[in-house]
Amino acid sequence: SLPPGVTRPADYEARARAILGDDAWAYFSAHAGDGQTVRANRAAWAALALQPRVLRGLRSIDTTTVLLGSSLPSPLLVAPMALQRLAHPDGEVAMAAAAAALGAGFILSSQASQPMESIAAAFLPDRHRGPLWFQLYLLPQRAATLELVRRAEAAGCEALVLTVDAAVRAARPLRLPPDVLPVNLPPTSAPGGTLQDLLALAPAWEDVAWLRSVTRLPVLLKGVLHPADAAEAVRQGVAGVIVSNHGGRVLDGAVATATALPAVVAAVERRIPVLVDGGVQGGTDVLKALALGAGGVLVGRPLLWGLAAAGAAGAAHVLRLLRDELELAMAQCGAGAIAQLDGSLLASGA
Ligand code: FNR
Repeated sequence: SLPPGVTRPADYEARARAILGDDAWAYFSAHAGDGQTVRANRAAWAALALQPRVLRGLRSIDTTTVLLGSSLPSPLLVAPMALQRLAHPDGEVAMAAAAAALGAGFILSSQASQPMESIAAAFLPDRHRGPLWFQLYLLPQRAATLELVRRAEAAGCEALVLTVDAAVRAARPLRLPPDVLPVNLPPTSAPGGTLQDLLALAPAWEDVAWLRSVTRLPVLLKGVLHPADAAEAVRQGVAGVIVSNHGGRVLDGAVATATALPAVVAAVERRIPVLVDGGVQGGTDVLKALALGAGGVLVGRPLLWGLAAAGAAGAAHVLRLLRDELELAMAQCGAGAIAQLDGSLLASGA
């Protein structure tokens, strides 16, 4: 059952803190450095001011979104997040069921703590579901990466999301309970070693080309902040980019995603969709992202807090609150459809 008194997605954070053990809390809420980028992500959404239109005579609000050629009920997607059984014993299966029920997309982390086939089975049968995408890192051995790709394809995943912003991962002290593991990965692929060891494994554009050559699924890049990289992604035939700084968990001091988004949108010249994540906590944040030109919005930690507090029902409640807030904000801005959201609704006149 849902905890009483929760009216905003962010209300779940304190519930999660009270329920989660110290290690799980530390892992989920971790940030790089002293947390500048985590705070900047949230502050950048808050700094954008809406400039609503009035007297539009709206009679309905439609959040239908077109992404990669498909019409979807919602612009929201669950961000790929590792080891969700640390949040709740029902883990990714519960998160996927919540996403399916609310018409949101689900991006399955390669570091999921349940078999990807079980997660897909909790998501795909829903008739009103959003997209199912598989997130991956390039593993040191191409054969191992390929095996993961084939499994994701067979499980019914509809696109691959290659995360490119964590090539050199800072080792994070984490005491995992022995039964929460990235079960879909080969046991030897855990990152580790010196900076030089890690750099030797860091992917390059030729690896993106290789990945595209071995699959028919569209490949998106997650973790693009620079417009020049976005332009290169278009040239390389990438299907979409996700503007992300990994929720401030990798490079502290990285630009806030709301700040980086407009230049990336401009650089791709509408040839591929640009999605965004980082610090999205309410429906007006989602609306602002869409007004800046995002084709979809990923939500991370608020959903983990909902999952931790109340399992699938909690995660679904967070998505429901976000959807309701988005619809209300659209109505209050005089926009009846996602396609009507553009920079003219932002006071900066973006
Ligand atoms: C992440 N993120 C992440 N990204 C990714 O590509 N693969 C992964 O396995 C993970 N794992 C992961 C675990 C945890 C606990 C968190 C909080 C985040 C990053 C995630 O997809 C997203 O980019 C950020 O969380 C930004 O969104 P929020 O949390 O600010 O909404």
